[in-house]
Amino acid sequence: MNPVVKTVSLVKIYSGGAVPVPAVRGVDLQVEPGEFVAIMGPSGSGKSTLVHMLGGLDARTSGEIWLDDQRVDTLSESAWALLRRKKIGFMFQFFNLVANMTVADNVELPALLAGVSPKDARERREHLLGALNLSERADAAPGQLSGGEQQRVALARALANQPSVLLTDEPTGNLDSRNTRDVLRLLSDVHKEGQTIIMVTHDARVASLADRLVSLFDGEIVDDGRIARRRTGTAGAVIDLR
Ligand SMILES: Nc1ncnc2c1ncn2[C@@H]1O[C@H](COP(=O)(O)OP(=O)(O)OP(=O)(O)O)[C@@H](O)[C@H]1O
Ligand SMILES: [Mg+2]
Repeated sequence: MNPVVKTVSLVKIYSGGAVPVPAVRGVDLQVEPGEFVAIMGPSGSGKSTLVHMLGGLDARTSGEIWLDDQRVDTLSESAWALLRRKKIGFMFQFFNLVANMTVADNVELPALLAGVSPKDARERREHLLGALNLSERADAAPGQLSGGEQQRVALARALANQPSVLLTDEPTGNLDSRNTRDVLRLLSDVHKEGQTIIMVTHDARVASLADRLVSLFDGEIVDDGRIARRRTGTAGAVIDLR
């Protein structure tokens, strides 16, 4: 099978300031369909920059990015925007929920924009909100939710269009243990259903949910390997998701 995501000698140098900052320095990464990849590394090692580039939110300086066999680093902004709707789910630290839409509409919109039928979009939304314990908050506005609830809505929204790849940066960043468990359980469930996931995290326990750990240091991959499983083969050996 061909990789969902592939980068070739990917480089990002921020050149806006007095001194250019090389944030990503020659990353070659391939992610296969259905893989769950955790990206770890010290603060400033280029993790967010990398996933932003994979989602077309940040332009690369040089190198190539491929998504589902299509070269995407050369796309125009508008072509990227279209592709993103169909192929990419984002869940980042700043959730960017639409303030004047209900939770339900926030979650349904990406699926509708991606061309899913209204009926299927509604079913998907109900499933996701249920899985994240948010059904009762469906008619609320994002501003009426707690930080943890907003984060879970953002995850539901990211999954609504059944993206080729889910990109997530610190998905459990501000959550307490209960909300962390809900988010991780959903990630684990969608992974089992075949969802490809690339997740940045500081937390080794959260990373242990993934199949594979990529370590970044100073913008380079310094380690890339499979995460050992318990003999039972269950994901998330370290975190109890029950
Ligand atoms: N918009 C920007 N302009 C200039 N430099 C930037 C910009 N964004 C990030 N950087 C720099 O690029 C490097 C990588 O930053 P990045 O945000 O990718 O790191 P990170 O690994 O996600 O860190 P953290 O764990 O703290 O989130 C850092 O040195 C950072 O200061
Ligand atoms: Mg970051």
